This record gives sequence, C-alpha cells and structure tokens, in this order.
Amino acid sequence: MATYKAAQFTSYGGPDKIVISDLPIPTADAPDSVLIKVHAASLNPIDWKRAEGQLKMLVKESFPLRTGYDVSGVVSSIGSGVTKFKVGDEVFGRIGQSEVGTVAEYVVSTEEKLALKPKSLTHVQAAGVPLTGLTAYQVLDKSGFASKPSRKIFIPAGAGGIGVMAIQLAKHLFNAETIATTVSEAKIDIVKDLGADVVVDYKKEDYTQVLKDYDMAIDTTGETKQQFAILKPGGTLYSIAALPNSEEANAVFPVGFFMGKVLDVLTYKLRWAANSKNIDYHYLFMSPNGTQLAEIGNLADQGKLKVLVDSTFPFTLEGVREAFARQKQGRATGKVIIQVI
Ligand SMILES: NC(=O)c1ccc[n+]([C@@H]2O[C@H](COP(=O)([O-])OP(=O)(O)OC[C@H]3O[C@@H](n4cnc5c(N)ncnc54)[C@H](OP(=O)(O)O)[C@@H]3O)[C@@H](O)[C@H]2O)c1
Repeated sequence: MATYKAAQFTSYGGPDKIVISDLPIPTADAPDSVLIKVHAASLNPIDWKRAEGQLKMLVKESFPLRTGYDVSGVVSSIGSGVTKFKVGDEVFGRIGQSEVGTVAEYVVSTEEKLALKPKSLTHVQAAGVPLTGLTAYQVLDKSGFASKPSRKIFIPAGAGGIGVMAIQLAKHLFNAETIATTVSEAKIDIVKDLGADVVVDYKKEDYTQVLKDYDMAIDTTGETKQQFAILKPGGTLYSIAALPNSEEANAVFPVGFFMGKVLDVLTYKLRWAANSKNIDYHYLFMSPNGTQLAEIGNLADQGKLKVLVDSTFPFTLEGVREAFARQKQGRATGKVIIQVI
C-alpha cells in the first residue's frame, strides 16, 4: 500500500510530542472531495493550542492527532462530483475541522473550501493566506464595516498573522478611513507599509490613552475589555481571541448543553460590560469558504495584498518541531510556514 508522511501529536503537549508517521495515502472518495499534494502548510495559534489541550472545553481530541489547517498544493485526484477543479490545478485553502492535517504530504478537502492559488504567490506565500485572511474578511464582512457611516478601525497586533491580513483587507476591500494598530518598535515601518495610518508602540505607550472614538475594533490579543475604551458609544467590537458563548461556539464546535452553560457564565461579565458601555460586542469563529478565499486571492493578484512570511521550515521532524516552537512564541511577523515540496 502506498504511504505518505504526516505530522501527528502523540498526546497533549508541545513540539516534543510531534512525530512524523507513514500513513496510507487517502483517496478522494466522496463526490465533492479533492486530494491535494501539499507543497506548503502554514501554522496558526490554533495548531499549538489544540495540541496543548487549550480547546478541551470545545473539542474532545483523540490521538494521534493530525495538525495543520492551511494548505497550498496541487490537485492530485478529485471526487466524481467535483466541478471547480481538475487534476494538476494549484489550489489553496483552509480545510475543515474534520479534515485537519495539512502538515503532511497529502491532505483531502471538500471542494467548496478551496480556491485556485493566486498566480502571483508562491505556494509558501499562498499557504499563509487562508485561515488568517478568511478570519479578517469574515469579521469585516459580518460587522457591516464597509457601510458604516464612519470607518475608523483598531486592529491590534498589526504584524501578526491576522493583523497583516486585516489591515490590508480593511484598506482595500472594506473601505476603511483610518486604521490604527499596535506593534513593537521594530515592526512600525512594516505595518505602515501595509496601510496602517496610526501606529502605537505597545511596549512604550498605552493605546487606550492614545486612541479615541473608533468605530470598530478587532480584538486579536484578548485585551477585550481594554479595547471598549477606545470605541465610540455604539461602536462595534469583534473578538477572535476571547471566549465564545454557547451560540458562537456551537457554530463551529457543538459543545453540548452543560459546556454551553459554562461558556455563557464565563462570558457573561464581558457582555454585560459591553452592554453597559453601549458596545456592539461579538465573538467570531472563522469558517472555511472557497468563494471568499478566491476574492482574497484576487486582491493578491492585483498587487493589493502582501503576504509576510516570518519563517520557513522544512518538512522534517526537526523542522516541524522548530516551526511549532516559533509559532508558539507569539512573536511572528506574518506567517510561519512548513515547506513540504
Ligand atoms: N476565532 C478565530 O476564528 C480565530 C482565527 C484566527 C486566529 N485567532 C486568534 O487570534 C489571535 C491572533 O492570531 P495571529 O495568527 O495573528 O497570531 P500570531 O501571528 O502568533 O501573532 C503574533 C504577533 O502578535 C504580536 N503581539 C503579541 N502580543 C501583542 C500585544 N499585546 N500587542 C500588540 N501586538 C502583540 C507580536 O508582535 P511583537 O513581536 O511585536 O510582540 C507578533 O507580531 C490568536 O489568539 C489566535 O488564536 C482566532
């Protein structure tokens, strides 16, 4: 039987729990499935958080646990009902929760989660786009940001995976008037180049004292309550880094009645604080979406979306472990990539 190599966690823990295993090559059995020969995968905080058990409240893991959500590669085979792609196409995507495992030589995805890879991006760059690009896109889209009467937005951690995408999408797709962000000193010019108008060095200044009357904020750091202070009354805050309530969690991880109640209790205070300050507060879990991803890819081909690659590691045991260690530091400028081919 033909086999392929895939990174897996043997138990909850850090990079030392990763192994590279030989598994039977999957097949594109379901009518809508696409088998991708992986060229590059990018890491996201969810990869190490899941492996360390930080999502235990939301998802029960079984081991060995495959890892990696973002992929860029070439279609190797397709299911009988696939119409958007053919064998040999270059594609990229954020694969589904039950398909996780892009840190591997092959991965299967359903076709609606994929898009053609932008021609102007290498596989290494393209792998850095889907999860972060779609998260930023979905927050900006769901909040109705583009049609707000005034559009001053605060996107903290502007040089992180999400920040890099959110600044550029806010500017080029969602009509932002003013974009403020936070970074440490060495990254100031990088985020200005992406389109940030106001940059606060978060290690030297308290952004809650500097920024005022913003229409919207995307909480990428978990400092949710502090960010209420910079918004206008009636302003909007979408967090992607706090805790979801039961309804928001159930959209992605069905948590059941008891855990749902726990989440509602844990998130009650924050929602109460938002209400009392007249802030329209939401938590958002991103979801894969090939149509939106194609739109983001077009922006890259128009020269309006840069992908920042923090570091690239080879698909070896040592390379994968080092990539996870780098991602977990939380200091990346853009994306941490594992180059498989
Ligand atoms: N809900 C969802 O669907 C969803 C989707 C994607 C991501 N997320 C979450 O969103 C968060 C951000 O993800 P990411 O991919 O952007 O992470 P990331 O790429 O690991 O972020 C690293 C960046 O954050 C900066 N940073 C760290 N602490 C900061 C602070 N206090 N203020 C300003 N900048 C700071 C670092 O800059 P310095 O080196 O200068 O400190 C670095 O450039 C994570 O918690 C992730 O789990 C949620």
